[in-house]
Amino acid sequence: MKIVCIGGGPAGLYFGLLMKKLNPAHDVTVVERNRPYDTFGWGVVFSDATMDNMRQWDKETADEIQEAFNHWDDIELFFKGHRIRSGGHGFVGIGRKKLLNILQARCEALDVKLVFETDADSDLDYPDADLVIASDGINSKVRTKYASVFKPDIVTRPNRYIWLGTHRLYDAFTFDFQRTEHGWFQAHIYKFDDQTATFIVECPEHVWLAHGLDKADQNDSIAFCEKLFADNLQGAKLMTNARHLRGSAWLNFQRVVCDQWWLKNENGAHVVLMGDAVHTAHFAIGSGTKLALEDAIELTRQFQRLGDSPAKIGEVLETYQSLRSVETLRLQNAAWNAMEWFEVCGARYCDQLPPEQFMYSMLTRSQRISHENLRLRDAQWLGGYERWFAERAGVKVPANMPAPPPMFTPYTLRGVTLKNRVVVSPMAQYSCVNGLPGDYHLVHLGARAMGGAGMVVAEMTCASPDARITPGCPGLWNDEQGAAWKRIVDWVHANSDAKIAMQIGHAGPKGSTNAPWQGAGADLPLETGNWPLISASAQPYSADTAVPKAMDRADMDRVKADFVAATKRAAAAGFDWLELHCAHGYLLSAFISPLTNHRKDDYGGSLENRLRWPLEVFAAVRAAWPADKPMSVRISAHDWVDGGITPNDAVAIARAFKAVGADMIDVSSGQVSPDQKPTYGRMYQTPFADRIRQEAGIATLAVGAISEADHVNAIISAGRADLCAVARPHLANPAWTLTEAAKIGYVPMPWPKQYLSGKQQMESLFAREKAAQAQAIEAAKISA
Ligand SMILES: Cc1cc2nc3c(=O)[nH]c(=O)nc-3n(C[C@H](O)[C@H](O)[C@H](O)COP(=O)(O)OP(=O)(O)OC[C@H]3O[C@@H](n4cnc5c(N)ncnc54)[C@H](O)[C@@H]3O)c2cc1C
Ligand SMILES: Cc1cc2nc3c(=O)[nH]c(=O)nc-3n(C[C@H](O)[C@H](O)[C@H](O)COP(=O)(O)O)c2cc1C
Repeated sequence: MKIVCIGGGPAGLYFGLLMKKLNPAHDVTVVERNRPYDTFGWGVVFSDATMDNMRQWDKETADEIQEAFNHWDDIELFFKGHRIRSGGHGFVGIGRKKLLNILQARCEALDVKLVFETDADSDLDYPDADLVIASDGINSKVRTKYASVFKPDIVTRPNRYIWLGTHRLYDAFTFDFQRTEHGWFQAHIYKFDDQTATFIVECPEHVWLAHGLDKADQNDSIAFCEKLFADNLQGAKLMTNARHLRGSAWLNFQRVVCDQWWLKNENGAHVVLMGDAVHTAHFAIGSGTKLALEDAIELTRQFQRLGDSPAKIGEVLETYQSLRSVETLRLQNAAWNAMEWFEVCGARYCDQLPPEQFMYSMLTRSQRISHENLRLRDAQWLGGYERWFAERAGVKVPANMPAPPPMFTPYTLRGVTLKNRVVVSPMAQYSCVNGLPGDYHLVHLGARAMGGAGMVVAEMTCASPDARITPGCPGLWNDEQGAAWKRIVDWVHANSDAKIAMQIGHAGPKGSTNAPWQGAGADLPLETGNWPLISASAQPYSADTAVPKAMDRADMDRVKADFVAATKRAAAAGFDWLELHCAHGYLLSAFISPLTNHRKDDYGGSLENRLRWPLEVFAAVRAAWPADKPMSVRISAHDWVDGGITPNDAVAIARAFKAVGADMIDVSSGQVSPDQKPTYGRMYQTPFADRIRQEAGIATLAVGAISEADHVNAIISAGRADLCAVARPHLANPAWTLTEAAKIGYVPMPWPKQYLSGKQQMESLFAREKAAQAQAIEAAKISA
């Protein structure tokens, strides 16, 4: 085959040499516009796994790269006069020039033709090529030329960065955050050879503009950065090797992803994108080179598997695209979290979090490194952090004892202290008759109160019969219901040290429907016995549900009075905590979301207007609720529908509730519209809780796909939320919290006295399982 690679970066060079190695009969040319040593950039980082992969494909290059690597373990943070260091992170770095020179030399040894200082204008310039590799980098001309086929999706990110170098040698991957009068800058610094370290400086666009860096040339920019990071540089100079770039050397990262990766051109040659031309990965995760090298490996693997002849190219390229696009998406998603963290850290974390917690937040920014993973990397640092966290939570930890993990530290709001950070999330059971909770609820809530969580939240409970979602929903509209709830609250208090919360709500446009297992199913009207619905506007929840009445002021007064009466009954029943349900498309949520509120009066239009009545209800309820007991508000922080509530609005909503006395925001999302398109994933709503906590300055309760102690520990440790609510896992296992404590080996976990023999057995079973896993890993290592 005749193969031409346009672009001699890592992708083009590596693919060229692998194909030549696969079959020396291939005629392979790499065309590069620069001279062999003229390259932009400093060091690149990758992992041991990438090296193992490369070793299998070309031991010679892998060995040479290995030889040239700089390996380091520690991450060090410079922040507000603190230096914090943690170990076990395991990176390898190599100079980009060195890497390219190794690849170039290997290409030459294998007889790959290298053509330098040639700007390839088009794939059509190579009429006798069977395969053209467009490895021409992020600004790929080939991709642009065939944009209608490749359909690139290019997102330009808001931060500015400059890629510099220094001869000051750092012995850790170093991050330095510096505040100026206009905002925060951060430097990402890592050594990549015996004399040089990469020094990337990054800041938000508005900070960059405020400092006039858009008008600064490279020398001015370097002088600015040297002054800003003077303490860290200790007199060392910063350098650029992008002198060939004109104007400002400050760039915006561009996230590139393509729909289609290959085509057949008018010469009949196949053209395929590779490396940065088809996808990018942000330097915060440092995997762009890894992706480029792995593209080259995968394409070679498919030629080896399916046949390396012109007839097979189409099939090979199709397989390459389907495999690599999935992997790329996975990595880009992980890189996205890390990139966003650095984009918002100035506004969201730098001023809000103490240095210790800032370090934790930074280390877990991609949400791929968990709490227990940090323990594996550096148990001593994590132990110190857990001690710091526990002491701030008021726990006195004896010097010779480990601190409890953050999940098991107490939390106090107003006069109520929860023994730990786990909350059983409210879950409708649809099992009442006439709104009366019975033995079912006593057993259901009682079992979960004994299961180790700090607090159990009762399901949405309705302030009037027409406020119910289904006929099976509980109520607090009469004294009989109040007494039935009191029996449950008293039982929980007498038999456990969990707190119990009441969640009050009104179904609004989503009322008068079936329980999930009845009739036509959830969210659909009852077959008989429907009651009239009310909402912010006369808009049904879906095409299948009844049209509600748009509430008038008299309706608002009546419903508000019902909420207040229910609150008084909840207080009399002895609940420890009250939550107002303003989420999921129910009545109060229907006022807040622009998707469901189309009013033209003072209660519709702007967010301020849409919040007016929900805030009025909150204030009335707060006044009726004991001052020493907390109140939270559950909101939908994202409607997942264009034109609906966004996480940005959620911050404003949280601020508004905080201003009328809310103590905590319970951050859920969605269920406001049947058209929603949520992006599910583990802890998928936690970023909203995090943002609200930092930007609105109010405590948050994170919920949604939090299913392991490791999740809870990471969320609480990083300060993304103050509490974590866990719903579905508690349906499968009422003792979820006790189980998770045993799983992570937290032996001091208190258990109900009647269950203590179960504790010892569970702990030793998990310990045995862990030991067997460790043994299996060791055995695998030995046999490898
Ligand atoms: C600040 C920063 C830090 C980074 N840090 C890391 C890191 O730590 N680890 C990591 O893995 N990655 C990192 N990357 C990303 C990494 O540099 C790229 O992902 C990687 O180089 C992609 O390889 P490539 O071969 O696809 O493209 P490139 O390396 O961009 O190579 C493309 C080549 O094509 C040539 N070319 C372009 N057009 C033509 C043409 N028309 N004719 C001839 N030649 C042409 C260019 O001159 C260039 O040499 C970083 C990137 C930036 C911007
Ligand atoms: C069966 C069931 C009933 C629910 N009922 C309520 C409810 O009454 N009030 C509420 O705010 N959320 C309710 N939810 C939502 C949960 O509280 C929680 O937010 C959601 O299930 C996500 O958490 P998870 O991933 O831990 O399950 C319910 C969820 C389930 C599974």
